[in-house]
Amino acid sequence: MMRLPLPEPMLAGTRFVLRPWESGDAASLAVAWSDPEMRRWLPVPEPGDLSAAAAWIAGEADRRHAGQALDLVAVEPVDDLAGGLGADPMGRSGNGSAAKGQAGADLLGEVGLSAFDPERGAAMIGWWTAEPHRRRGIATEIVRLLTTWALGPQLGLKILVAEVEPANPGSLAVAMAAGYQEVGRRDDGRLVMAAVAATGAVIGSGRRV
Ligand SMILES: CC(C)(COP(=O)(O)OP(=O)(O)OC[C@H]1O[C@@H](n2cnc3c(N)ncnc32)[C@H](O)[C@@H]1OP(=O)(O)O)[C@@H](O)C(=O)NCCC(=O)NCCS
Repeated sequence: MMRLPLPEPMLAGTRFVLRPWESGDAASLAVAWSDPEMRRWLPVPEPGDLSAAAAWIAGEADRRHAGQALDLVAVEPVDDLAGGLGADPMGRSGNGSAAKGQAGADLLGEVGLSAFDPERGAAMIGWWTAEPHRRRGIATEIVRLLTTWALGPQLGLKILVAEVEPANPGSLAVAMAAGYQEVGRRDDGRLVMAAVAATGAVIGSGRRV
């Protein structure tokens, strides 16, 4: 499995940048993991305390380099006018610029890819938003951004799949708003939602992970 690239330039919306996890995010991640809604719908580590969060973050680069997972965290962009490193008027920034020095900043949410299947050009996508930042369209936006990037020429996947509990209306709404359609149902009842690449983009890139 190939090392997974980071999006270049860094993915960003008007309200956030999507950057790799940093060690200073551990406390915020532990707080996010402690939310009952997170524990209800996602396989959060038990215990999900500070040291568990720090260990998970410490393993992120290895998982990415081994082609296993690519996890990005949404944080508010730094308004770094003094250093000239702030996001441009489109809200975008180059890797290593706007989000540097932002570890521990208010964490909005996460979106990540896993379960890569190079033969099929497929991967699984998952997401969450931190409790104080829900119902602001953040999940919809981060899922759309990572989906578009992963199905585009840089990663060149053909299909992204999300598994969503039908009883989780928020996540279902996010998947649909981000362009995912129901393609099946797992034995445990979870809906399988998929987004596929526009044909030309994938054929044109010839890329595989
Ligand atoms: C589900 C979750 C990701 C939604 O994140 P979010 O940032 O609030 O989502 P958005 O703001 O983009 O919401 C988009 C739409 O989803 C729907 N929605 C979001 N949360 C909802 C909820 N709790 N109940 C019903 N509909 C909901 C709404 O239609 C919303 O649009 P609106 O705010 O204009 O009404 C978030 O609540 C979460 O992280 N929950 C815990 C973990 C989880 O379930 N992860 C997904 C596992 S597949």
